[in-house]
Amino acid sequence: MTVALQQLRFRRPDDWHVHLRDGDMLESVVGHTARQFARAIVMPNLTPPVTTTEQAIQYKDRIMTALAVSGQTASFTPLMTLYLTNNTPASEIAKAKASGVVHGVKLYPAGATTNSDAGVTDLLKHCGAALEAMQQHQMPLLVHGEVTDPDVDVFDREAVFIDRVMLPLRQQFPELKVVFEHITTQQGADYVATAEGPIAATITPQHLLYNRNALFSGGLRPHWYCLPILKREPHRQALLAAATSDSSRFFLGTDSAPHVKGRKEMDCGCAGCYSAWHALELYATAFDSVGKLDRLEAFASLNGPAFYGLPVNEEYVTLERVQTTIPEVLDLKAGDLVPLAAGEAMAWRFKAD
Ligand code: NCD
Ligand code: ZN
Repeated sequence: MTVALQQLRFRRPDDWHVHLRDGDMLESVVGHTARQFARAIVMPNLTPPVTTTEQAIQYKDRIMTALAVSGQTASFTPLMTLYLTNNTPASEIAKAKASGVVHGVKLYPAGATTNSDAGVTDLLKHCGAALEAMQQHQMPLLVHGEVTDPDVDVFDREAVFIDRVMLPLRQQFPELKVVFEHITTQQGADYVATAEGPIAATITPQHLLYNRNALFSGGLRPHWYCLPILKREPHRQALLAAATSDSSRFFLGTDSAPHVKGRKEMDCGCAGCYSAWHALELYATAFDSVGKLDRLEAFASLNGPAFYGLPVNEEYVTLERVQTTIPEVLDLKAGDLVPLAAGEAMAWRFKAD
């Protein structure tokens, strides 16, 4: 007889990809992330986007103010990012590195996702000087890895991106640190596991737990719509194998992306799943499903800091095996927010030490 593990205690994790937004939404969600995570890589896709170190420092200040307002007292450090544009100068990269506040530069191919209109139209043509500076200063490039060519099927955009953009990029800048953000495919997982040089990937809870059937289960399900979109079951299994493998190249990045209920449930609804409220419980469910809870600490708390060159956290957290139900809706200052897998049962409960 095997007895299921009842408690899991491990180093406090970090979220290496989160959207905290601004204003009322920031005040509504920042406490959820700070409750579970010591640090988070904060995405710069505000309107207008965060393109300078100056703006990143101001945004960080707003995050810390919002955190105080939220009442969440856990210590939390936002790791800021810049939004790469066709015009990002090399001098901005040097400034970002020197600030100690900015920890990555985000590539959004123009038009790829929410607020990406200012994104890059041709990476190697326009961003050579910035990429050169990033390679030199060891500033990671965080990549939304999807082509935006309307002729490419939405389910194939990540795989095509590897051939069209990732390979030429990494051939030209072999020492550049690259995080392939929120990978969703077998091709993405295989590439990251086997490629040469400094490459890693984040994986979201929704891509570990669900395949594309979730989008159409009994009807159209907008709360499972995110970008990159959920893929077929074999891809989910490849991601789960990668996340729970011995490779230190895969780590936690929720891509928690809040949009109020009304902006999801409309005729042109926004992409993004909200998982900050229950992120660790979701990841634990995924790891538990393949009997790999022992790999959760490396994925959530060790591999990310190692890649970013930061120390691991000294505090610990605990997950208890207690059945809870995910709320149907969170009633927040910004409005109603539907969490990922709303209404479903969860086998785990998070507890800070
Ligand atoms: C993100 C958002 O809403 O900002 N949406 C999403 O579906 N993940 C943008 C992004 O990271 O692609
Ligand atoms: Zn994102």
